[in-house]
Amino acid sequence: KTIIIAIDGPAGSGKSSVARRVAEELGFAYLDSGAIYRAVSLYLSQKCISSDDVAKIEVELEKLTIQIDYQQRIFVNGADVTGEIRSPKVDEVVSFYSSLPVVRHRLLSIQRKLGDRQNLIAEGRDMGTVVFPNADLKIFLKANARTRAARRWKELAERGVEISYDDVYYQIIQRDELDSKRKLSPLLPAEDAIILDTSDLTLEEVVEAVKNLIKE
Ligand code: ADP
Ligand code: CDP
Repeated sequence: KTIIIAIDGPAGSGKSSVARRVAEELGFAYLDSGAIYRAVSLYLSQKCISSDDVAKIEVELEKLTIQIDYQQRIFVNGADVTGEIRSPKVDEVVSFYSSLPVVRHRLLSIQRKLGDRQNLIAEGRDMGTVVFPNADLKIFLKANARTRAARRWKELAERGVEISYDDVYYQIIQRDELDSKRKLSPLLPAEDAIILDTSDLTLEEVVEAVKNLIKE
């Protein structure tokens, strides 16, 4: 049987950096489920398909192929969209598309398949609640919204993306709200998740804490 670690939490709580580090150190595979939601949202928004147009989205999803390579590059219908999915434009629309049951159902099997044959650290919003309900360990990272926005703003600034702190903060609050209030697979800790507040912890401290939980 493979070992599955589920890490969930809101934007900027530290999921991807922590999951990536721990996966590397323990030799586990890593699933960034948000990247898949982002890739689908980028694709649909570029085709100018509104998140209200469920019929059209269903047709588009039938034709869509998504691949992730060993370097965590992500491809939609063969095109590399790794950089593009991290733009503020995608941040703005992703929660609307990812609230749709058609989208979530289509992406479920892609995610589950990754845990079949390898030890996996999966990170997102519903890893512990929906995608891997039998995960060996479930962790829910949280941090206050100002801290999360400051982290994300710094990250965007380092990548040369010009955006104000206020816009990042507003955007994070809005995404939290949409992700928490949607009907299907809302953002919330699994009943058996361990909740870790990372507001006053360094990345190193969170990585250590998660590694210790895995060892237990
Ligand atoms: P998430 O995947 O939950 O959205 P990320 O892992 O992408 O969060 O983290 C967002 C940013 O905050 C990254 O630039 C990351 O390096 C930084 N970061 C993550 N955890 C911490 C922490 N505990 N302390 C300070 N910065 C952090
Ligand atoms: O890195 P950040 O936390 O900002 O976002 P992400 O993990 O890349 O996720 C982007 C968006 O995808 C979230 O705001 C959710 O709307 C959606 N998502 C989801 O619905 N379910 C998941 N398992 C992962 C992401």
